[in-house]
Amino acid sequence: MFKPDLLHNKRILVTGGGTGLGKAMGRRFLELGARLVICGRRENVLAETKAEFDRDFAGRTTIHPCDIRDPDQVEAMVARIWSEAGGLDILINNAAGNFIARTETLSHRAVDAVLGIVLHGTAYVTLACGKRWIADGRPAAVLSLVATYAWTGSAYVVPSAMGKAGVLALMQSLAVEWGPKGIRCNAIAPGPFPTEGAWSRLVPNAEIETAWRARVPLGRFGRHDELADLAAFLVSDRAGFINGACVTIDGGEWLKGAGQFTLMERLSEAEWAAMASKKKGG
Ligand code: HXC
Repeated sequence: MFKPDLLHNKRILVTGGGTGLGKAMGRRFLELGARLVICGRRENVLAETKAEFDRDFAGRTTIHPCDIRDPDQVEAMVARIWSEAGGLDILINNAAGNFIARTETLSHRAVDAVLGIVLHGTAYVTLACGKRWIADGRPAAVLSLVATYAWTGSAYVVPSAMGKAGVLALMQSLAVEWGPKGIRCNAIAPGPFPTEGAWSRLVPNAEIETAWRARVPLGRFGRHDELADLAAFLVSDRAGFINGACVTIDGGEWLKGAGQFTLMERLSEAEWAAMASKKKGG
């Protein structure tokens, strides 16, 4: 789909890049010529992913254990990336935390556990990179993974919805403020893309998984390579005029939930025929 040098020598940090969608995006960026930096909380997971990537793309991945909830760890990591590896061209805000729960049962620590990663962590990493890009006069791109419930809200994942709405506002705000400095800020709103991390926390049983699939007009979940290709395009120079956008990639899921007459999919052929004859009869 892309020229193999689309991201040639671009230095890209993917937060939460050791697993799931972050890992899938990282592999795609490497295939397109990038130099990859991944961070996450678990050093062993990062090391395993690096070993896997190094087999195919030797020496092009570096790892930084970092809990993005801690601003001091973030600052130390980004300072090291600038001093040791020549900084970054692209930041992917992928790291997230989430679980399903009835909101009235949440403790303040539960709220903070999610917002600390999704909202505060994303802001810390974005600011640590942004101030350096601005000081260096270096063009850059930021891409944040949100969710369609950033604008619809969602029951049972309320701290995540609050956090993703905030991240979308961060991207839209910085698109305007940092656009004149050559820094593009965009978002992707993925629908259901099965990953071990998300599915183990968000899909309690097979019945819900089947019902969820049926909510998607295309009748399936997303594939990691589909998301990775969209991300690669958005951070590439070929998307140089896209700034402040949020691209939905959900097979039409959220619109199906929102549309008032979606329920009509339950009508049988006979019922449609009855509706049509009613119309003919005036
Ligand atoms: C109620 C819960 C809970 C649950 C944790 N807590 N899980 N409360 N229901 N299921 C509470 C704990 O009781 C505790 O409060 C507080 O939250 C902190 O819990 P810890 O386990 O100490 O937190 P921590 O180890 O920091 O883990 C953070 C986490 C965890 C967010 C809770 O799930 C995590 O690390 N997730 C990372 C990966 C992830 O979630 N990926 C999925 C992202 S999917 P008390 O009061 O007891 O001390 C996504 C988009 C989905 O974001 C889009 C779908 C289409």
